[in-house]
Amino acid sequence: MKKVCLKAFGDSSAKSYPINEIRYRSDDGKTLEVANNLKVLNEKQVALLKKLFDKRAASWNIIDRSGVWRYREFLPAFAPFDTVVSMPEGNTPIYTMPHCAGYVGMASLFAKHQGMNPTGSFKDNGMTTAVSMAKKLGSRIVACASTGNTSASMAGYAARAGMKSIVFIPDGQIAYGKLSQSLDYGALTIQLDGDFDKAMNIVEEVCVRGNIYLLNSINPFRIEGQKTIMIEMLHQLAWKAPDWVIVPGGNLGNSSSFGKAFSELKQCGFIDKVPKIAVIQAHGANPFYTSFVNHSTIMQPMHAETRATAIKIGNPVSFEKALFAVNFSGGVVEEVTEQEIAIAKSMVGLDGIGSEPASATTVAGCKKLIAKGVIAPDATVVCILTGNLLKDPDYTVEFHRDELYSDVDRTSTVTGTQRITTEGRSNKPVKLPADTNTILAYIDKYDKC
Ligand code: F0G
Repeated sequence: MKKVCLKAFGDSSAKSYPINEIRYRSDDGKTLEVANNLKVLNEKQVALLKKLFDKRAASWNIIDRSGVWRYREFLPAFAPFDTVVSMPEGNTPIYTMPHCAGYVGMASLFAKHQGMNPTGSFKDNGMTTAVSMAKKLGSRIVACASTGNTSASMAGYAARAGMKSIVFIPDGQIAYGKLSQSLDYGALTIQLDGDFDKAMNIVEEVCVRGNIYLLNSINPFRIEGQKTIMIEMLHQLAWKAPDWVIVPGGNLGNSSSFGKAFSELKQCGFIDKVPKIAVIQAHGANPFYTSFVNHSTIMQPMHAETRATAIKIGNPVSFEKALFAVNFSGGVVEEVTEQEIAIAKSMVGLDGIGSEPASATTVAGCKKLIAKGVIAPDATVVCILTGNLLKDPDYTVEFHRDELYSDVDRTSTVTGTQRITTEGRSNKPVKLPADTNTILAYIDKYDKC
């Protein structure tokens, strides 16, 4: 049997590196992936494995309970699973979204809400595996650059593992909910002058030269854990693949991991049908979209601008892997405006779920792809809501007060900065006197409209 190893992405004949060698790129600078060399399973073996997953889902043992480690047959790099750091993560719900379905023009629409993870984002699925690997490798100190969620997740898991953590964040450009998490979990938090892309360049060099373990999604063990978002989704849908999975695109780690999950599941005979992957970017941070519409296999980095700060990324690390994911699955890349993101986010809220702005690109993208005829209105579609509503409360409150601007620092349009209109969908807080009669009269009026 071939051993699990690291290889340059997309080249099966490339030089392999041992799984326990700390490196993030091949000798010629390419990103790495874990070559799992999974065995092809026959029908009986597939059925037995599915039964085992069902049994584990009902267990209280933390490694079985985790929505990541439950599927450990697809994570052989971490065997014998003796350094697992788990909260436990995953087990995120799939919700129906009737309001959003009506909004996009479908009879039904689903959301897998990764914001229901322990630190409130999908990063936990990949952080449990990457921090477990850090522990296996004997790392004492870990680091990442982040638009906020990676840092929150890394700081949390590092604290649980008894490791020190360092986060590099673009100064003033991450949401407060996320900043508060890395501070509270004890990370050394370095606010860099510049954007995420600059922070990403610096952290890779700092880690290599400073002997610090890098936990951005360039770390292939992050991608391994995030594969289980798709495995768990299929499990929850009784192994019936949806037609489409829609995911926001920033640094493109998540879409890459979805592509790897489907490709491995298919190769080893676990699934027949591969859902199409639609990656949605914000118009102001759309390098993947631009290369996709130009049929280019080369990405042109750009300066990114969007109020969906989680995906304010102009030079995504995992471009090639994400392109594979889209092409392999027969999917697409789409872009949406600030306006479309804001309105879609308010619709997710009306379904009683809520999400942070970047996650709402999925619903906005779905509406656009239906209008273009790319997605059929009767298709089964799962939107991946990547982060919790509470991550970025400022955005939500500004929206509902009709004070949402495309530039985070502005409070007026005097400078020419655009206000993002709410299209009448804001839910302004009301001020009333502390008088029961007035309040009841107001409620009566509210109830009748
Ligand atoms: N949604 C949220 C809520 C995110 O935090 C991110 C990325 C994305 C989508 C995009 O995912 O990078 O895998 O394409 N946040 C990173 C961070 C970059 O530092 O927290 P991606």
